[in-house]
Amino acid sequence: MTASATRRGGRGARARRRLDARAGLDVEVDAAGNLIGTRGEARVWTGSHLDTVPNGGRYDGVLGVLAGIEAAERIDVPLGVVAFRDEERGFGGSLGLVRKPEVYLELHIEQGPVLLRAGRPLGVVSAIVGLARGEVTFEGAAGHAGTTPMEGRNDALVAAAEFVVKVRDAAHSIPGTVATVGELTVSPGAANVIPDRVTMSIDARAPDRERLDALVAAIGFMPQLYTEPAQMDDEVRAVLREHVGGPELVSGAGHDASVLAHRGVRCGMLFVRSGAGGISHSPDEFSEPPDIALAVDVLATTLARFGG
Ligand code: GLV
Ligand code: MN
Ligand code: MN
Repeated sequence: MTASATRRGGRGARARRRLDARAGLDVEVDAAGNLIGTRGEARVWTGSHLDTVPNGGRYDGVLGVLAGIEAAERIDVPLGVVAFRDEERGFGGSLGLVRKPEVYLELHIEQGPVLLRAGRPLGVVSAIVGLARGEVTFEGAAGHAGTTPMEGRNDALVAAAEFVVKVRDAAHSIPGTVATVGELTVSPGAANVIPDRVTMSIDARAPDRERLDALVAAIGFMPQLYTEPAQMDDEVRAVLREHVGGPELVSGAGHDASVLAHRGVRCGMLFVRSGAGGISHSPDEFSEPPDIALAVDVLATTLARFGG
């Protein structure tokens, strides 16, 4: 990050000041834009991401970065804390990471109702779902909305609407999978013009590769981002389980830990119970302070164990 980028302020600048001033870490910004603070021979890293989604909450990502800094302030072992860039759109930061830790441990909100329903403050992630994302474009013919007869129209949005239903039905037909169209761009975008071009996003997820590939085939699109399901490291999981006492969960959300696990890093994730019914990617996102405090204790203890 350049000096002017740092001065621009915001979450990144605040995290940077805390990383070097209070946690005693040497701070750098790598070529992918990740903010990284390290101390000594930092084989063990923690952290998360600071970017968010439109109208998102205050916990997804940020909590893991702040918890990592807090843990670094409490324990005196070599370690790294990273704020990954560009997690939500496609894991740009973790895909571009050049320095590589041996172990990566991420604290994150669950973003679902499992821990809430189980009455448990914390959970251990066993695996992260596989994810395929892409974009599909529909071409039609523009025309006057009032004077062009219904017969013979080539309305790109009508074709796209049928495809949205196909995406939903494909996920319904393969148990355990989900698929979403969350972005739609309609051109030329006027009430009185038949749409001639529509672009839509597709986000498809499954707990194993077979079902992910079957889902992609059933929808019929070419993924531009494809992250295979990722297993968390057995030993990291076992240590977390010791402290948390279970339960274990498969994460339906994608995480940078998934990318790192596929690059040979031993990864583990600690989930904090989501409140407000488990809602996430929404301003209603919430976790109780005592749950967060407990999670930071576990994070610090586990980092000390692997970093010491
Ligand atoms: C990240 O939040 C994702 O699962 O898309
Ligand atoms: Mn996240
Ligand atoms: Mn998110």
